[in-house]
Amino acid sequence: METTQFKRILFGGDYNPDQWPKEVWYKDMQLLTKADINEATINVFSWALLQPAEDKYDFSMLDDIIQLLTENHFEIVLATSTAALPAWMVKNYPDVARTDFEGRHHRFGGRHNACPNSPTFQKYSRRLAAKLAERYGQLTNVVCWHVSNEYGGQCYCDNCASAFRVWLRDRYNDDIKQLNEAWNANFWSHTFYNWDEIFPPNDLSDAIGPDNATLAGLAIDYRRFMSDSILHNFTDERDAIRDYDATTPITTNLMGTFKDLDYFKWAKEMDLVSWDNYPAYNTPASYTAMCHDLMRGLKNGAPFMLMEQTPSQQNWQPYNSLKRPGQMRSMSYQAMAHGADTIQYFQLRQSRGATEKFHGAVIGHADTDQTRVFRETATLGKELAKLGTQTLGARTPAKVAIIFDWENYWALEYSSGPNVLLKYVDQIHRYYAAFYRQNVSVDFIPTDLTADEMATYDLIVAPVLYMVKPGVADALKTYVKNGGHFVTTFMSGIVDEHDNVYIGGYPGPLRDLLGVWVEEFDALPPEQSNQVIFNDGETSQCNLLCDVIHLEGAEELAKYGSGEFYANSPVVTTHQFGQGTAVYVGTQLVDAGLDHVVEKLIDQLQLTHYQTPNDVELTRRQVAGSTFYFLVNNTGHSTTVDLPIEGVDLLSQKLIPSGNLAVEPFDVKIIKASTAV
Ligand code: GLA
Ligand code: ZN
Repeated sequence: METTQFKRILFGGDYNPDQWPKEVWYKDMQLLTKADINEATINVFSWALLQPAEDKYDFSMLDDIIQLLTENHFEIVLATSTAALPAWMVKNYPDVARTDFEGRHHRFGGRHNACPNSPTFQKYSRRLAAKLAERYGQLTNVVCWHVSNEYGGQCYCDNCASAFRVWLRDRYNDDIKQLNEAWNANFWSHTFYNWDEIFPPNDLSDAIGPDNATLAGLAIDYRRFMSDSILHNFTDERDAIRDYDATTPITTNLMGTFKDLDYFKWAKEMDLVSWDNYPAYNTPASYTAMCHDLMRGLKNGAPFMLMEQTPSQQNWQPYNSLKRPGQMRSMSYQAMAHGADTIQYFQLRQSRGATEKFHGAVIGHADTDQTRVFRETATLGKELAKLGTQTLGARTPAKVAIIFDWENYWALEYSSGPNVLLKYVDQIHRYYAAFYRQNVSVDFIPTDLTADEMATYDLIVAPVLYMVKPGVADALKTYVKNGGHFVTTFMSGIVDEHDNVYIGGYPGPLRDLLGVWVEEFDALPPEQSNQVIFNDGETSQCNLLCDVIHLEGAEELAKYGSGEFYANSPVVTTHQFGQGTAVYVGTQLVDAGLDHVVEKLIDQLQLTHYQTPNDVELTRRQVAGSTFYFLVNNTGHSTTVDLPIEGVDLLSQKLIPSGNLAVEPFDVKIIKASTAV
């Protein structure tokens, strides 16, 4: 599926009328319609009502809700309700509850609480999805299926242990010797003789705290297995829906850089990607932009749904600041600028009780349209209705790609040493942010692209590509040999897919591509840094990890200006490899140093980029021969932008000339370029 294929910009979000008396529903319809809300995501947590007992289903309330929404011309995103178990099920079938990292088998409570390998859960979740699809799948205003909710977490129960063993037998060809070898199991006398000696790596077994395990290979395999197990829950329900509804797209709401699930693998099973965007008050705009781009990357650039964002504040963060006046609008357009075809909220009416009662909503506790949040929502609703469909299905013309790989994420963070402050997403964000500061469009790609697929990009960046899986180094080499450009960093090329080190010198299989040998890496505590001196005389600082590098064909771009015995040795290098170049950054550069490297690449590769003030972004989207420039001020300050293009702003209908443009706090323009640029 190439686009989200919705006929209009869905504008709505989670709506839980089943938690309210009916009189309230009628008022909701009036208020929501007033705000131009055209969509409701319903039935997310209603299992207890839909199946009040094992042998009893009751769809009467859902029928009424759907009828009311239909009469009021709402599109419906219909959830399957399987993200929270009914109490009777946990009581009658304790296997549906999870066993946690500490080994405690859970009782009823919470949500997102099903053991993915519970036969009871599998049976009843499939059955419910099928019944819903049978009953509602043909309704024309059911425009999307929303399976479960924010999948994630781990279970360590006996059912999971048994399923893990089956998964392992398949992965290691039923040969326990292969498994022992893959896990380097002879370490600390871990040799396994029989499959039933293998247990999930929690606190009762092989874990050394939540982020470390004796056998990292085992722990990484368990993460792979859990991601696959939960994915199986999704595909179970998806297939059950498909038995009754052949066409409506099926999704589940993802969560950006969320660690637990291999989203690239998941996206292959999803018709379209949707995700929930909940930045904290201090999340950098570049981080939010990165998450959007990552979500867009999951399906090769196809638009996604912004399934949830709060219209005002959250309740579950330590400091739940309000979105400032105008900020919800700017964040909505920021999502669109990076690929969203829908703008949806959690939630439409604020809860009156339970843990989310202080979570913001379109209709708040005051129960009126006379609130700032309601007015801002309604204004946005009107604006989106006017904008119409012209931006739907647009694509981002990126020439730079960053590799994001969940297995690498897990492996890197299981690794004990060299520096506890080394975090995968941080490293990705540092590089992403350097391109963001220059308004260079970035795609996210998985590791398993072919060299031909990579060739769409002028530049591929792979920060901390610690785990290099089979085929990846070869594809990268072919890509560079044929004229591509590649950047990677310290802690790359270290281990294979089992987390065993490539013997013969770092960066292992990337060594000839990069033309360097990394003999050692020094870990710096937070209070230390080293100087970096670039060839052009520019100086900067670096920290976290410092590689000790020998040139093997690469040229030095920068050397250490300090660092005791490795002072004056190379730290940033470039290597001509066939028609392309491979750059190695052997340390964590501070932003200024990283900007210097990125600016040089932009010059060298003539990448499209724009100068804007901090956190004011200019992003391109293209569809049907038109280019839209999304200018988004993510800050509460007014400023001036030197606009490189001219065109009509689709929001104000005004012609905006190129050159200096005054931009208000949280201002947004969507400029349709008059001429192709
Ligand atoms: C998540 C969930 C919603 C709700 C919101 C609150 O995204 O999917 O059910 O709990 O968080 O921010
Ligand atoms: Zn389990």
